[in-house]
Amino acid sequence: MQIKSFEEYQSWHKESIESPDTFWAKVAENFEWETKWKKVKSGDFNDINFKWFEGAKLNITVNAIDRHVKKSPHKKAVIFEPNQPTASQEFLTYQQLSDEVCRFSNGLKSLGVQKGDVVCLYMGMTPELLVATLACARIGAIHSVVFGGFSATALSDRINDAKAKILITHDSVFRGTKEINLKDICDEALKTSSVENTIVARRSMKNVNFNVDNDIWWHDLVDKQLTTCAPEIMDAEDPLFILYTSGSTGKPKGLMHSTAGYMVGTTFTFQNVFQTDENSIYWCTADIGWITGHSYLVYAPLISGVTTVMFEGVPTYPDASRFWKVVEKHKITHFYTAPTAIRALEACGIEYTKNVDLGSLKVLGTVGEPINVEAWEWYNENIGKKKCPIVDTWWQTETGAMMISSLAGITKTKPCFATLPLPGVDPVLVDAEGKEIEGNNVEGNLCMKNPWPSQARTIYGDHDRFIATYFSTYKGMYFTGDGCRRDEDGFYRITGRVDDVINVSGHRIGTAEIENAINEHEEVFESAVVGYPHDIKGQGIYAFVISDVSGEQITEKIKKIVTEKIGSLARPEKIQVVKNLPKTRSGKIMRRILRKVAANDYENLGDTSTLLDPKVVEELIEGKL
Ligand code: PRX
Repeated sequence: MQIKSFEEYQSWHKESIESPDTFWAKVAENFEWETKWKKVKSGDFNDINFKWFEGAKLNITVNAIDRHVKKSPHKKAVIFEPNQPTASQEFLTYQQLSDEVCRFSNGLKSLGVQKGDVVCLYMGMTPELLVATLACARIGAIHSVVFGGFSATALSDRINDAKAKILITHDSVFRGTKEINLKDICDEALKTSSVENTIVARRSMKNVNFNVDNDIWWHDLVDKQLTTCAPEIMDAEDPLFILYTSGSTGKPKGLMHSTAGYMVGTTFTFQNVFQTDENSIYWCTADIGWITGHSYLVYAPLISGVTTVMFEGVPTYPDASRFWKVVEKHKITHFYTAPTAIRALEACGIEYTKNVDLGSLKVLGTVGEPINVEAWEWYNENIGKKKCPIVDTWWQTETGAMMISSLAGITKTKPCFATLPLPGVDPVLVDAEGKEIEGNNVEGNLCMKNPWPSQARTIYGDHDRFIATYFSTYKGMYFTGDGCRRDEDGFYRITGRVDDVINVSGHRIGTAEIENAINEHEEVFESAVVGYPHDIKGQGIYAFVISDVSGEQITEKIKKIVTEKIGSLARPEKIQVVKNLPKTRSGKIMRRILRKVAANDYENLGDTSTLLDPKVVEELIEGKL
């Protein structure tokens, strides 16, 4: 079901808000169901128990695989681009994908994995990760993919929180020149967590510690398994996966997504935003460890029956032309990446975009963080050659699917604007008191008025936290945590997080999480972490730390402990040792001041009179890095 004109977009959007049941029932007709729904939508943002397509029964992999096997078994489902560039092409047709997913599903079953069990995946970006993800869905197990950049401690926390029964990993993988010893990290994580079995897929062939009681080689597990496996028939609201993300407080939250609404929402947005067709060769550069990889590398493209490209490496290896050479090699039509990658490649120089044929490209996408005008223009001119619409897609782990985005070739694009809400999305801007800000040319906190099919249903094991985090700041609304501007045309521009979450290279990290890690160091008394503008990463991490020790002696130790507790993605770029932090009389740290200092914005510090000791600010500025 594809929108083909702006007028059609307007009428679909109107219908989706005024009659959501009728609208989403029409969309849902395009999927394969074991049993259709009795009720399309129930619940609202007052009783946080919304459900979509209640009564329906389905398996998402029937939609992602079986449907296409019947029609076009030899079509390429997945093209794999390994870290090391090779001339040959590695791919899986829909038939091969079906065979591999079924074999691994049977393997999981042979280990006793059942519907509702949690399976943790900590893997590199190879087809096994995609196969394992789909195999979990095939048998009704809940997958919890943990990004391969997280540390053993972070992995162990996630295994324990979700009570995962099985862990799946690789021996080790290469990203660029860097080897990531995944199995070793799993062994470390399992010292403080437990799973019944660890399945290890071969990739680098390196020698790893192999525990014969609990470890199983992937190849031994799937050997002799049948290439058919009947799909587990799931209820619409049965959980599909858990994915951890950071918030402004406490430990990471395991957002839980359910089956039918997620399937309908991700697929509908994919087909409409990207305007794909059956010949599309679509490449999303995200790792499956993040929501973008879940929704728009695995599920929506496969459910739509396009060819999805999976890349194991990094944009700058062997050099900064890699992305564009891959586009040329596989004749990519739709390309979806993050602003941080665009900025990093822009910084390497224009020459890397030359001497490659980018003529296959039709649509470019961006996601994960606000894109700056310069990067947008560079992408438009040098990659899209001013012929490819850029879709700036705003959404979140919690929303499951894109929420505000232009539709390629249909909505007018404006640099750095996500533009307009997709069907089913009813955004509002509110002030600090939660009062709706009407009209155009306004700015406020971005909220949603109504539920939509693909939204997360809960935080795994903690529904109260789910309600408190998203539905309590402003009663009756979902609060996104983002600030947003609506311009004179009613177009939306996301301005960034308004809470204590920072977005580093498109990765969301809670400042509290980093502070907790830093504070565990015995030489640290207290710390406060803020984001600051960073040319490539969007935001960098700036830590103000109170310690008796100074200089490299302490900064290296802090970097080490953060890497150990969370992962190198959370390592602060700047660490300033201070005597005091700016606190109010009630002892609250005034982060606003720290953000301004970190950004060198000393002119606009605002009111400092409520500080216990206003002199602290001068000290901070003096010691500024
Ligand atoms: O601040 C917004 C930013 O990324 C946050 C969501 O992060 P995560 O759950 O990790 O999901 C990222 C991929 C969907 C949002 O709250 N964000 C995401 N997309 C955009 C964006 N900021 C500006 N423009 C975007 N297109």
